[in-house]
Amino acid sequence: MKKAGECVADVFETLRKALRNGITTLELDELANEVMIKHGCTSGSKGYYDYPGYICISVNDTLIHGIPSSKIVLHDGDIVSLDVVAVYKGYYADACRTYPVGVVSERAQRLMDVTKQSFFEAVKLVKPGVRLGDICATIQKFNEDHGYSLARDYTGHGIGTHMHEDPVIPNYGKPGTGPILGEGMCLCIEPMVLEGKKETRTLGDGWTVKSRDGKLTCHYENTVVVTKDGYEIITMKEGEQ
Ligand code: MF3
Ligand code: CO
Repeated sequence: MKKAGECVADVFETLRKALRNGITTLELDELANEVMIKHGCTSGSKGYYDYPGYICISVNDTLIHGIPSSKIVLHDGDIVSLDVVAVYKGYYADACRTYPVGVVSERAQRLMDVTKQSFFEAVKLVKPGVRLGDICATIQKFNEDHGYSLARDYTGHGIGTHMHEDPVIPNYGKPGTGPILGEGMCLCIEPMVLEGKKETRTLGDGWTVKSRDGKLTCHYENTVVVTKDGYEIITMKEGEQ
């Protein structure tokens, strides 16, 4: 899983540098595949319920599962989320970053900052003995305190030899409830945050999930291992930009 995680982090580094006005999300998808091949990994997303891309690329009001396309061109001011699942010898890692293209509005920057910070507020609670509801409630409270909402129909999850394993990790919940974390559990904690209302809609392609109100959305995720006395993030490079 750590090998897969290093690959995911490398995809972020490569694609972040490639982001520019005029690039298509299909070009980014092809780049992601090249990085995965270089690491001896395959995409966990491609072919997952017939998903056609190597990764998911979701722009602005697209919250998740955007399908890479030669028709989707990035422009300065866009925010783009890259959701990457790599598989190494049958073991999975899954993470997401939302990046700016060129200079973005303060509004967009704040949404990205808060979403990312909500992940770190939640993850710092992770250690054996903690209830999962504490993690979920922290993500919910932090984002709602900043005026944002959380998607209800999509959640984080356990991960290992499958992309999605138990437990389900909602981005909302009650402290002191839910399963108790134990050493060795591997969790994908992934706030999916909407600037406006929490409602989403799925396009006719069966994948692309957008905010119903057309406002901006953001997604940040890491694969996190519960250790003896805390946690380790396996999908992030030291000193990641
Ligand atoms: N990476 C997503 C998750 O966090 C799932 C990708 S859906 C797929 O669960 F179809 F693209 F695989
Ligand atoms: Co995930």
